[in-house]
Amino acid sequence: MSEHKNEDKKVVLSGIRATGNLHLGNYYGALSKFVRMQDDYDCRYFVADLHALTTHPDPGMLHENVKEILAEYLAAGLDPEKNIIYVQSDVPEIAEMYLLMNMHAGIGELMRTASFKDKARKALGITSDSDEIEREICGNQTNRQVNAGLLTYPTLMAVDILIHHADFVPVGKDQEQHLELTRRFGRRFNSFYKTDYFHDAVNFNFGGDAVKVPGLDGSGKMGKSEGNCIYLIDDEKTLRKKVMRAVTDEGPKVPDSEPTEPIRNLFTLMELVSAPDTLGHFRSAYADCSIRYGDLKKQLAEDILKVTLPIRERILDIRGDDEYLSRVVQRGAERARETAARTLREVREIMGIRKF
Ligand code: ADP
Ligand code: TRP
Repeated sequence: MSEHKNEDKKVVLSGIRATGNLHLGNYYGALSKFVRMQDDYDCRYFVADLHALTTHPDPGMLHENVKEILAEYLAAGLDPEKNIIYVQSDVPEIAEMYLLMNMHAGIGELMRTASFKDKARKALGITSDSDEIEREICGNQTNRQVNAGLLTYPTLMAVDILIHHADFVPVGKDQEQHLELTRRFGRRFNSFYKTDYFHDAVNFNFGGDAVKVPGLDGSGKMGKSEGNCIYLIDDEKTLRKKVMRAVTDEGPKVPDSEPTEPIRNLFTLMELVSAPDTLGHFRSAYADCSIRYGDLKKQLAEDILKVTLPIRERILDIRGDDEYLSRVVQRGAERARETAARTLREVREIMGIRKF
């Protein structure tokens, strides 16, 4: 069954949940890598609408969100001729394989996953450790905020990846634990059924470390639920306002001092969007204490706009074109289902499910 490993091009697979517009964190952590990889690999990119269900989106909004992400994929430069672009729920084989793979996922390891603990803590309104989460979930029969889909989120993600026998999964740093679980489930399946059917998938970052894009509020990562995002769809005025309001500090008092976190974050953003000499200029101004944060922010806003404005214009063009969007995903689903159906058939067979 090792035929999957010997295809000409390595298989790339990634997706983003349909939970709102894409921000710079999504762009640099994931989407820009999708675009850069499309010429050299066999790429499959999808919109994760089933994963979005774990946090109970408004049913009236889910489809709009799927469309929005799709338009943003295309606007950022993903070419449907070069990639398989699809919506997760259009590939029912994923749901069936998720059921099968759950037979090999341990409740303990799922409960220890950082993303589960974060979401469970938020839902339960507690701040402390795993034991308390477990006590709350098991001890309180009426507590249904933490649903089983949230617990088995990593199984579904592993299936997204394994069903395509993916080699590379371009994602941001926060997803690395999920990738680790994917490898674990694949290896466990292999050893349980004495096969070499699945192989390991790894993150991909063009040789560098996984990216973590900071927010504008001084600490932590940029994230939809953090409310600290610059969106690809932000108009010029909104974007400038957000950057000018970014948290800073009182400025360096001593030459060559270590920047505080809010300032380090602004430099990190600059590393992503600005030319090296622009960054160098502001770093030396910081080092000799002559820096003016207002100037730095103005430059930063300018350089972000150079990246986002052309994408914004394309999003506005594409997102109303229902016919085009539906053509892209129908074709994408057909192609994704070819691989998915084959994998599912083989997995059922390995597990002993046979037709009469
Ligand atoms: P959010 O955290 O805003 O809800 P998602 O979890 O939907 O975003 O993430 C979609 C993709 O974007 C994932 O590959 C994730 O690793 C990446 N990503 C999200 N936020 C960041 C960030 N701040 N820095 C780097 N990558 C990120
Ligand atoms: N968990 C990912 C996120 O929150 C989304 C996702 C679902 C994904 N399935 C995937 C990413 C498979 C890469 C591969 O962003």
